[in-house]
Order: sequence, then structure tokens, then C-alpha cells
Amino acid sequence: MTAAIQRRLEIPEPHSAERTELHPDLNHAHVRFIGLGKTYNGQQGPVAALHGIDLAIQRGEVFGIIGRSGAGKSSLIRTINRLEQPSSGRVLIDQVDIGEFDEDRLVALRRRIGMIFQHFNLMSAKTVWQNVELPLKVAGVPKEKREQKVRELLELVGLQAKHKAYPAQLSGGQKQRVGIARALVHDPQILLCDEATSALDPETTQSILGLLREINQRLGLTIVLITHEMAVIREICDRVVVLERGRIVEQGPVWEVFGNPQHEVSKTLLAPLQHALPEELQSRLLAQSNASDAAVVLRLQFTGSQHDEPDLAALFSALGGRVRLLQGGVERIQGHALGQLLLAVTGSALGAEELRQRAGQWAQQVEVLGYVV
Ligand SMILES: Nc1ncnc2c1ncn2[C@@H]1O[C@H](COP(=O)(O)OP(=O)(O)OP(=O)(O)O)[C@@H](O)[C@H]1O
Ligand SMILES: [Mg+2]
Repeated sequence: MTAAIQRRLEIPEPHSAERTELHPDLNHAHVRFIGLGKTYNGQQGPVAALHGIDLAIQRGEVFGIIGRSGAGKSSLIRTINRLEQPSSGRVLIDQVDIGEFDEDRLVALRRRIGMIFQHFNLMSAKTVWQNVELPLKVAGVPKEKREQKVRELLELVGLQAKHKAYPAQLSGGQKQRVGIARALVHDPQILLCDEATSALDPETTQSILGLLREINQRLGLTIVLITHEMAVIREICDRVVVLERGRIVEQGPVWEVFGNPQHEVSKTLLAPLQHALPEELQSRLLAQSNASDAAVVLRLQFTGSQHDEPDLAALFSALGGRVRLLQGGVERIQGHALGQLLLAVTGSALGAEELRQRAGQWAQQVEVLGYVV
């Protein structure tokens, strides 16, 4: 191997002068954006895609980015390997500003950062084996090492038996497994996933998510993931950020953002995960009722801020009367109980407002939705 290739294969050591002494947590961040802005020169003039993004992604976490179409998600993720050049602000990887990197250091940086895409971006005229091997060839890795690496990676993604197949002979999930193997050839420390499961059916999505989780845990990779599928975030992310028109509008641990979204955009994005009021019930719901047999309909929401699942016996006896479960359930995200219960209470000595307050001992948010007769 020539000295130049040897040098490019090495991970550049951060110069101490490039380190920024800031908040200790931030000093350990794997990826940091500081006042990041991105403006494109569009055909009809400048398009501002990102504004003042300040964000820290920790080493080893699975970090989700969500937002509406055009919010700036891809622009943001692509500044991490400088596929996009920021217009303002900085991106630090391991506390090193990558903005000043010359070609050699950029090549080395991109090898530390794998990326997978929605449409897999495989070479159709090359076999599975050749697709995974190619970046190693380009990097001048000797044949023996290449073969060892490709074999190891095809085993990791479960595609040993398909190594001679061409992309056209593979299912979507298998193609993405090739994409993942190829992204890992240089033992990256960060894996970027831009809608990597969006072209896959739910079952295949699950298997790819399982593989990503395994890679995250076994190899300790930091994973930054964009998706429009909220279930994917719920399934594997530790933290999530919500972008809207190029700005951060909300961020936090997944259980917190999903359990109690604050911003309108987050609420809209997460709405499909929430059970809507059944139509039949909605049509029977009255704002007021003096009928003695009218049931008060309560919505109890569990936002995960208390670890315990609701004690139903205690709740029902505190409400008094007859309590019927109309709809609901609880799920666990990162060990937190999240969910909602729709209850209809009849024959209680308590008025609607008292019921609401009582229920508040067990749920983080309680609403009186109305009455049904
Ligand atoms: N190369 C480009 N030239 C001009 N404008 C661009 C370019 N790339 C992106 N944009 C614009 O920047 C904004 C953010 O785009 P970006 O692709 O980052 O959004 P996104 O959140 O990834 O959307 P989607 O969910 O649809 O993939 C959009 O208004 C988009 O039209
Ligand atoms: Mg995008």
C-alpha cells in the first residue's frame, strides 16, 4: 500500500487546538451542530433550509430526526459527512470542526461515517459481494483483507448465501442489508440513515430495525436516523428532534416527546400513533347532560413521567359508581408507561370536575370529553 493511501486510511487525530472547551456534556458529544445554517441557491433565488441549529448527539445513541417534508432533515444529516456544506455555523465531530477539512481529511471522515438510503443506491451490474467490496477496493485495501471484511459483513447482515446475486434478484430488505454491509466496510463510528426503511413493508422494516439495533449495541455505533414512520422512532431511538422550516421546535428522550408532545408539528406527526375517539362514540357525545343515567366520559393520558402503570382497582374505586372501559391501553417506551384510557363513569356521587380531579392522581392528564346517555 502506498504511503498516501495508508495515510488516508488513518483516522485523523484531533488537534488539541481544535477542541472547544464548553459544557462537559457537550464536550463528550459525538456530533455537535453549533448555530448551523444552510441556504441553497435555488432556481428562484436562495432557499433557506436550516437556521441556527444547536444540537448535540451523544456517542452510541440512536438519534431520530423527524419533521414534515421539506423541514430540512436531509440537509441536516448531510452536513455530518459534509455531503452538504453549511452556509453558517459549525459541525463538530468528536469536538473537531469538520468545516476546515481538506480533501484528505474529508475522505478519512467519510470513511468514519457510513450512510444508507431509501433507494439503497446499489450498483445494478455488480453482485452483492462486489457492491460491498467496492469501497474497499477504492480505498486500496489488499485483496485478502477485503475478502475477510466482506465475508464478515455479509455474515453480520445475514446475506452469505446471496453473495453472487445481483441487486435485481434481491428483495427490498435484502438490498438494504447490502446497503448496510457496504456502509460498514470501513468500521465507521457513525451510521446515517435517511429514510432507510421507508421503501420496505412493515415486517421487513422490523428486521432491518433489528439489524440496526444489533449494530448499535454490538459495534457501539452512533446512529442518526431520519424517518417519517413514527413507529420506527418509537422502536429504536433514544432521543428525537423535531424540525420545522429548518428550525428545531422540540427535542428530548423519545418517551417524553411521544408521551407529551408540545409543539403543533410534533402533535400532528404523532397523531397517527394515538387512538382517535371512535366515530360512533364521538357522534353520541354530548357537551352537557342532566340525565341521571348519563355517563361522564373521561380521557386519562399517561405521559410516562411516572414509571408505574396505573392501578386500575384504586382508580375505579376512587371514581365510584360503575366504570366502563371504552377504549385504551398502555405501552412501554424506554421503560415508561405511555398511553390513554377512555372511561365512561355512571352512578358516581361525584360530578364531572371532581371525577377529573380524582383521576388526576393516576394519570398525568385528564379531560372530561362529555357525556353519553
Ligand atoms: N439542492 C437543493 N437546491 C435547492 N433547494 C434545496 C436543495 N436541497 C434541498 N432544498 C430545499 O431545502 C429545504 C429542505 O430540504 P430537505 O431535503 O432537507 O428536506 P427534508 O426534511 O429532508 O424533506 P423530505 O422529508 O421530503 O425528504 C426544502 O425546501 C428543499 O426544497
Ligand atoms: Mg429528506
